[in-house]
Amino acid sequence: MDTNEKKLRSQEWFGGKDKMGFVHRSWFRTQGYPDDYFRGRPVIGICNTWSELTPCNGHLREFADVVKRGVLDAGGFPLEFPVSSLGETVMRPTTMLFRNLASMDVEENIRANPLDGIVLLTGCDKTTPSTVMGACSVDLPTIVVPGGPMLNGRFRGECLGSGSFNWMVKEKMLVEQYTEEDILEAEIGVARSAGHCMTMGTASTMACMVEALGLTLPGAAAIPAVDARKKVMAQLSGRRIVEMVKENQKLSTILTRQAFENAIVVNAAVGGSTNFILHLLAIAGRIGVPLQLEDFDAIGSRIPLLVNLKPSGKYLMEDFYYAGGLPVVIKELNKYLHNDVITVNGKTLGENNKNPVCYNKDVIASIGEPLQEEAGIVVLKGNLCENGAIIKPSAATKGLMKHRGKAVVFETIEDYHARIDDENLEIDENSVIVLKGAGPVGYPGMPEVGNVDLPEKLLRKGVKDMVRISDGRMSGTAAGTVILHVSPESAIGGMLALVENGDMIELDVENRRLHLDISDEEAARRKAAWVRPEPMADRGYVRFYIEHVQQANLGADLDLLRGGSGSVIKRNLH
Ligand code: FES
Repeated sequence: MDTNEKKLRSQEWFGGKDKMGFVHRSWFRTQGYPDDYFRGRPVIGICNTWSELTPCNGHLREFADVVKRGVLDAGGFPLEFPVSSLGETVMRPTTMLFRNLASMDVEENIRANPLDGIVLLTGCDKTTPSTVMGACSVDLPTIVVPGGPMLNGRFRGECLGSGSFNWMVKEKMLVEQYTEEDILEAEIGVARSAGHCMTMGTASTMACMVEALGLTLPGAAAIPAVDARKKVMAQLSGRRIVEMVKENQKLSTILTRQAFENAIVVNAAVGGSTNFILHLLAIAGRIGVPLQLEDFDAIGSRIPLLVNLKPSGKYLMEDFYYAGGLPVVIKELNKYLHNDVITVNGKTLGENNKNPVCYNKDVIASIGEPLQEEAGIVVLKGNLCENGAIIKPSAATKGLMKHRGKAVVFETIEDYHARIDDENLEIDENSVIVLKGAGPVGYPGMPEVGNVDLPEKLLRKGVKDMVRISDGRMSGTAAGTVILHVSPESAIGGMLALVENGDMIELDVENRRLHLDISDEEAARRKAAWVRPEPMADRGYVRFYIEHVQQANLGADLDLLRGGSGSVIKRNLH
């Protein structure tokens, strides 16, 4: 056994000369591996979120084979394994309820098995944070291969953004008289290739996040799923992870505080999803880097918007890739970034993104002429959200950023659906829609319901946006003056629980303020009368989740999952 073999974690399984060494190797022989595979090759786990129930990741089974080519090129031993996959558009009540569960699956699969390095194959929204969170809690050398966005949607000569179009269905049918057939035709037009949503929704945001953190090879995020260059990227990632194992380049060597700050800056410039906050906070919690909700405002809110993508802008991920992709954005942001942080290819962020060329300034603006001066996410504070709430100014209406309006309260999303289109509902364009019961504990799982549709009677009048407040999330593909992640949430007795119809609410984005205009005495009276709702589950994982989930301002991870257990397993299989 040479020195390198001794260092490999997998040799604790495969290197033994005793009975257990025989057992560990022998059963793998059923798959026909030659002896040298067990004698000091780095074993690379390809952690695959492929699932036919997650259409955005439907191509990842094939991608795993491409990664394996790269691992074999570099002398590694690739072993693919499946983990929980979370399909955003189908899972009930919301994939966010299962992000932490999926991360546990990833963590324990990596820890328990003879793996030296990990490739995470990701795509749909939660499949990136869940796998990265799980991998962080083990901290082996790890590289991410984002599955890539779909091609641009095309429908009757128009470019359609996936995710964004569905928020317009109600409006299209009401205002533009779209028929059911029209909508059916749009359905396939907006999803015409493999890949994840091609707007700057949560999946694209997560891909940009991992690239900005230094966890992918440079330029990986924007390449469309069906572009041959995506496969090249996957194969090169397979080669690189073998080198990373030899260099012992663990996740914790890349995920420094500076890397997290870089991700916040980049997210602001690309107009990324608000879900980014929850996921980055949770990842930081796993790797042990101090990061707070307030950091997103302090570091990101003054960063200019450079990327002109839906839902904030005009273009889609395919256009972003052809314009030069994230490397151009990183180069433009040079003065705001820690350029000397190390990334998975062993080079610094600055070295990786020194020479990209922008091929379309309408898609990626220069730092000298940004699309918007200050675009990052703003953190609001006030009596309505003592621990914070957030708003994405680049997706909001300027005229509503300072607003005082009468609350129209919905106790649950079901209550909202039952009454929002009631012609007698007392609501106008100045009202503030308040939705309760959409937080991590209350729903449970914090669904993407914060951007509720406006009432039909106001849509018919041509109203395009209103202030909406909730303890839920908003899809990264949606837009509007939507205040989200109110913490503490209503289900645990936050002030949001105490809002009543007709209360006046004040929003002042410039001064970071969200205020419920009632006296302290009135608030105390309502609090004393408040009755905590019964938990939504009495058994199983959901009950466990309700009892352990943290609030949105901490990333909505489970309290006992913060931190990591590392890669050492003290007790053996006997
Ligand atoms: Fe999977 Fe949008 S539904 S990325």
